[in-house]
Amino acid sequence: MESTVTPDQLIARPTFANPYPVYRALRPHSPVRYISIPGGSSSQVKDPVWAWGLLRYEDVYNALRDHETFSSESPMAGQFGPPLVLIQDDPPRHTRFRRLVNKAFTLRRVEELTPWIASIAQELLDEIGEGETDLVDAYTIPLPVKVIARLLGIPGEDYVTFKRWSDAFLSTVSATRDERMRDLQDMIGYFGQIAAARRTHGAEDLITALVQAGGEDDALEDWEILGFCILLLIAGNETTTNLIGNMLNILVDRPELWQQLRADRSLVEPVIEETLRYEGPVQRLFRTAARDVEVAGTTIAKGDRVTIFYGAANRDPNAFADSDTFRVDRDLRNHVAFGMGIHYCLGAPLARAEATLTLNAFLDRFPTLERGAAPAVRQMETPIVLGFSRLPLVLKTRPSA
Ligand code: HEM
Repeated sequence: MESTVTPDQLIARPTFANPYPVYRALRPHSPVRYISIPGGSSSQVKDPVWAWGLLRYEDVYNALRDHETFSSESPMAGQFGPPLVLIQDDPPRHTRFRRLVNKAFTLRRVEELTPWIASIAQELLDEIGEGETDLVDAYTIPLPVKVIARLLGIPGEDYVTFKRWSDAFLSTVSATRDERMRDLQDMIGYFGQIAAARRTHGAEDLITALVQAGGEDDALEDWEILGFCILLLIAGNETTTNLIGNMLNILVDRPELWQQLRADRSLVEPVIEETLRYEGPVQRLFRTAARDVEVAGTTIAKGDRVTIFYGAANRDPNAFADSDTFRVDRDLRNHVAFGMGIHYCLGAPLARAEATLTLNAFLDRFPTLERGAAPAVRQMETPIVLGFSRLPLVLKTRPSA
């Protein structure tokens, strides 16, 4: 192992901001044993939890495909927040739930949202106008929260509260357990009222579709609908915020690519996919070994915790040539930024639609993209997501003289 990099650095805060040097040094030794603290790195945790970190593409891919060996049910569920439906379920519970929510969360529903997402993007950009702006505050946070609110049929004005809930849930650094539990109670009350209202009077929204999914024989129960709404809030906001932020941060340093994109919009899709590979918003999530299993010559014992490092797999040079370079000319079908297998991201089409509409809106409006005078700041609250807490850019609708 490179002498200066140890597995402990996987939970060091600077690694949350830039995990790639640590991944590069540890990947050849994967699986690596390290102290993992689900959801963050925190001195609040009294008993450290050991985990095996999978950092090589092949091992991550195989683990994601083998849900029988790598269980998503968590022995830690409930300790750091509520146990999450779907994403922390194994079959057969996962199969039933996914079938029912697939009925409600359809591609058509996402497509129907497209004109609306485009108009929100335009509104946000109109509000920003020109000059130096922190894009996180002004654009990348509000857009996905407004979209999820709209999808669920909840007034967009409540998006500040949504964002607070989503933040508090993800961060084990700043929020105490009590604060997290209080937020959870608020969320439960909020969604409970809406689900009850939709059972009486349906509307054109996802909560109504969830209430109706499965008919009378196999209907989702109230707590399942609440659990799913909470999951969408958590899984759909911060992730998309960071996809858009990471993409703009990459493009601001590549003015030639910006000009190419303006001239040729067929590059929009590869830019989004390469951003997902190169700086994916979700860096790690957790599994538990359901049986003894050998990975790259190491035995992982039944009951051991396992961390899937999506971000490390996506930079594995054995899977992607020249893996530490941002390139739009590569085959990007196999990146694992949205996971793989039965838990493959349900919101991937929505996240891609939001990123596509955003990039096109920016390209239409801004001939150039420049960094602001204030520094960009990477978030360091949680190792799960990679992204920015501040991203100042200078937006001009006319090129500088
Ligand atoms: C760029 C944005 C996003 C990224 C990078 C992302 C990433 C992921 C990943 C890696 C997983 C797999 C989890 C696992 O392996 O255990 C996942 C699952 C999931 N995502 Fe996303 N996600 C994004 C956006 C969204 C959005 C917008 C939504 C919903 C509105 C969403 C909803 C979900 C749900 C419900 C699951 C659980 C699926 C299951 O367990 O069957 N995600 N996501």
